[in-house]
Amino acid sequence: MTHKSLFFNKAIDYLITNKDGLYIDCTLGLGGHSKQILNRLSINGLLIALDNDLNTKTFVKNLEFYLDKRFSLININFKYLEIIAKKKHLFGIVSGILLDLGISTYQIKDYKRGFSFFINGPLDMRINNTFGITACCLLNHYKFKQIFKIFKTYGEDEQLYRLTVEICNRRHHFPFKMTLELSNLIKNLKFTNYHIKHLLIKTKPKIQKTYIINHKSIKIKQKFIKHSKSINTKHIRIKENTTKQTLIKTNNNSINKKKKKHIHPSTKIFQAIRSYINNEIQNLEIVIITSLKLLKTNKKLIIITFNSLESQIVNKVLKTTLNKVNKIYPSIEEVFYNNSSRCSAIFIIQKLKTFYLS
Ligand SMILES: C[S@@+](CC[C@H](N)C(=O)[O-])C[C@H]1O[C@@H](n2cnc3c(N)ncnc32)[C@H](O)[C@@H]1O
Repeated sequence: MTHKSLFFNKAIDYLITNKDGLYIDCTLGLGGHSKQILNRLSINGLLIALDNDLNTKTFVKNLEFYLDKRFSLININFKYLEIIAKKKHLFGIVSGILLDLGISTYQIKDYKRGFSFFINGPLDMRINNTFGITACCLLNHYKFKQIFKIFKTYGEDEQLYRLTVEICNRRHHFPFKMTLELSNLIKNLKFTNYHIKHLLIKTKPKIQKTYIINHKSIKIKQKFIKHSKSINTKHIRIKENTTKQTLIKTNNNSINKKKKKHIHPSTKIFQAIRSYINNEIQNLEIVIITSLKLLKTNKKLIIITFNSLESQIVNKVLKTTLNKVNKIYPSIEEVFYNNSSRCSAIFIIQKLKTFYLS
């Protein structure tokens, strides 16, 4: 199984600037990026890979590069990167660091992990499932106020109050055990909204837009069409002097508006629970700061974010530093073929000589 992540080649292209360098892949997963990094390095290059999921080791042991002398795996949370750096004397000598956030398809598809709202499995959701509280424990034992706060902070969802009430009412009679119990509850609660939106999408005449873009203005020609499910790239005409960035932004806006309505009602709530029990936001803040200490000047930290919450945190942390940051969104084709990429982004952060604000 492979995890063909978004921005797969882009991430590696930006990351590798020295074939003999030392690199860190903080999120090994199924090893897709690591394999590609090793392919691009010379025999003098080195790669240290981290992953918090202890099952990764079993999986990666079967991969061809596991025995590569340039590769080493440390099964640890990336928030401890500074401890590793102290042990191995890595400060200021690393040529590139990669963070591909979230979880892999392998973890999502494994019903025992409880990450999926489509497959029934125990409500666990811990990335390192050897310790810590499970999703089940949170739903059955946390106080109303705590659950509400978690949903509000990490979930960016509507109807949170009603959902929290329903969860607290239900658990007295039927304590939560399985993922589908939660996702069905959410679906029933949001049934009206979700389905009304879908009905509207199916019956309303669509507006076909043609974007004529140049770097100063975007003219939109529109006409009513019967029904179109797809976004057709033919509808985007580019004038000669269009900057790439303008095009990407415009494409994204149009896609986001169109695709937003198709988000599964459980997405944000599952995201909130997973984010909270794995401490994802705090870990991310820590690893960004540590990475900047480890990198050589002018070298890059590449972060692939999967949702807007992660992107917000990256932006927030980088505000306190003085580094060169580029942010790229998925192309229109990537979103079209992979709807879940709509909220993702890639951050290319180049460490400058003085990287902290005084
Ligand atoms: C999206 S997958 C990475 C996929 C990988 N780039 C590939 O090409 O196969 C994210 C991985 O990061 C790991 N992970 C998530 N949070 C972590 C953390 N705090 N520390 C270390 N690994 C973490 C997950 O277990 C998962 O395997």
